[in-house]
Amino acid sequence: METLHHILQASFTKAIRHAFNDLSEAESHAEMAPCQQEGFGHYQCNSALRLAKIVKKNPRAVAQEIEKALDQKTRAMCDKIEIAGPGFLNITLSSSFLSHEIEHVLADSHFGASLPARCLKVVIDFSSPNVAKELHVGHIRSTIIGECLSRLFEFLGCEVLRLNHIGDWGTQFGMLITYMKEHAKAVLRGEEKTDLISLMGWYKNAKKQFDQDPEFKNRSQLEVVRLQSGDSESIRIWKIICEISRKSHQEIYDLLDVKLIERGESFYNPLLKDVVDELEKKGLVTISDNAKCIFLEGFANREGEPLPVIIQKSDGGYNYDTTDLAALRHRLFVEKADRIIYVVDSGQSLHFQMIFKTAENAGWYDPAQIEVDHVGFGVVLGPDGKKFKTRSGETEKLMDLLTEAVDRARTVIRERLPDAPEEEIDHLARVIGIDAIKYADLSSHRLKDYVFSYDRMLRFDGNTAVFLLYAYVRINGIQRKTKVDLDKISGRLLLQHPSEIALGLHIRRFGEILELMARDLLPNRLTDYLYELADKFNAFYRDCRVEGTPEEASRLLLCQAAARILKQGLEILGLQTVERM
Ligand code: ARG
Repeated sequence: METLHHILQASFTKAIRHAFNDLSEAESHAEMAPCQQEGFGHYQCNSALRLAKIVKKNPRAVAQEIEKALDQKTRAMCDKIEIAGPGFLNITLSSSFLSHEIEHVLADSHFGASLPARCLKVVIDFSSPNVAKELHVGHIRSTIIGECLSRLFEFLGCEVLRLNHIGDWGTQFGMLITYMKEHAKAVLRGEEKTDLISLMGWYKNAKKQFDQDPEFKNRSQLEVVRLQSGDSESIRIWKIICEISRKSHQEIYDLLDVKLIERGESFYNPLLKDVVDELEKKGLVTISDNAKCIFLEGFANREGEPLPVIIQKSDGGYNYDTTDLAALRHRLFVEKADRIIYVVDSGQSLHFQMIFKTAENAGWYDPAQIEVDHVGFGVVLGPDGKKFKTRSGETEKLMDLLTEAVDRARTVIRERLPDAPEEEIDHLARVIGIDAIKYADLSSHRLKDYVFSYDRMLRFDGNTAVFLLYAYVRINGIQRKTKVDLDKISGRLLLQHPSEIALGLHIRRFGEILELMARDLLPNRLTDYLYELADKFNAFYRDCRVEGTPEEASRLLLCQAAARILKQGLEILGLQTVERM
């Protein structure tokens, strides 16, 4: 289904072309926006102000000519089209038109969102933790935002490849394998089970010994060579290490209901030499301090010295940059992605700018054809405004944080539903606790740091998951109370009261919001929209009686549309709904 924004934009563009036939195609393109103030109308077209300069007429006169040139179909959609201020065109849609539109939304599998003409392939790199280290709060944002964007593009009919670019390769494995060969013999013989906690302990010890003991350092470096050359015992131990990490990370993905395909740095290892060769052949590489470097225009460090992408170190080793270049090339040429998205903290923004620029210079892609975006995000802060830490001062572990949210949700729910069986309370606590964490993250503008607060995220008022879940429960409650079988409702939907019209218009705008979100990749667009939806629903329910009125059937249909959009919106955010709370 086309969005109203598109429909109106097309009609007004046509009218402009009709009224001023000397304009170029770009010049006659109509700007359409939702009205700033509800009282003025539903949409507004501001193009007259811009066109006035081109056709050298007064903007109000231009607006008048546009209005006169509108076709019959557009007029029939509107109650009134008014010229206001210096030359704005304010459009008020008719309630009968909007009512029809909501009926269509109810029958539409995509609730009024328009789908791209062709199925696009979108690669999203997210979560991407490192092996032998636990996921921490820093990874939560990437995981939650990446899952949300994946769901958005899936809903919009794209083929999404969700990639977990885990840090599973590099020289650090040399010391870890050496340490385990010396201190974890029983584990390596398969006689003893182990977990990520022990692994992290070994990693810490190995690092310490590596820094203090030259003999150990030497053995570790030899181990790196063995691993790189594919020595079977080294590879076997490396696989054990990866498997321990994988198991622990998977527990978190399961709890968060996140799906990812693992394609770590090791996957690209065999491709690195080729990438370096190609870049050299293309003349992009400069040797600096014995390292192979790519210098890009406009990239300098704080001292103003040129900052290179280092693709091969002086010791011959490859690094993070090389791997990301190989990954980008693979995603472009093997995966044939139409769009590539990296959900990684803003601290890595320079890294990605340089990788993208290098790929562009190598002729791998044209940014006008294929969108490659770094979706950065800010830091999670504690109540003291500093980086979130546990009481012991360590960076908070993700699993502890999720468990705590679920525990706190359990306390809240037990108070509200004292008679509910323990099983139901457990289920609700799990859903509400996880939803609260996700929503708190997605509803803050991703580029800003945000303050983590269990108390705030579990509140029943304000812009929280709990508020939205409760709104959803309430709407379903209304439907249940009337005992009307919604599938069998006959009769039309007719929006009458201003609160009904406001809710109807908002419901119809769902697709527009998703389109904006797909463009700027800001999940808080959708949370803001849903919060407003719940608000508009509450106003409608306050102003309009449903049960036992002549309007009951129509209003129930409106409730149903609101409930479906709310549920679908929450689903795109990665949130589950509940039936009572
Ligand atoms: N493993 C990295 C880290 O934890 C993030 C990787 C992000 N993805 C990428 N293609 N570089 O910092």
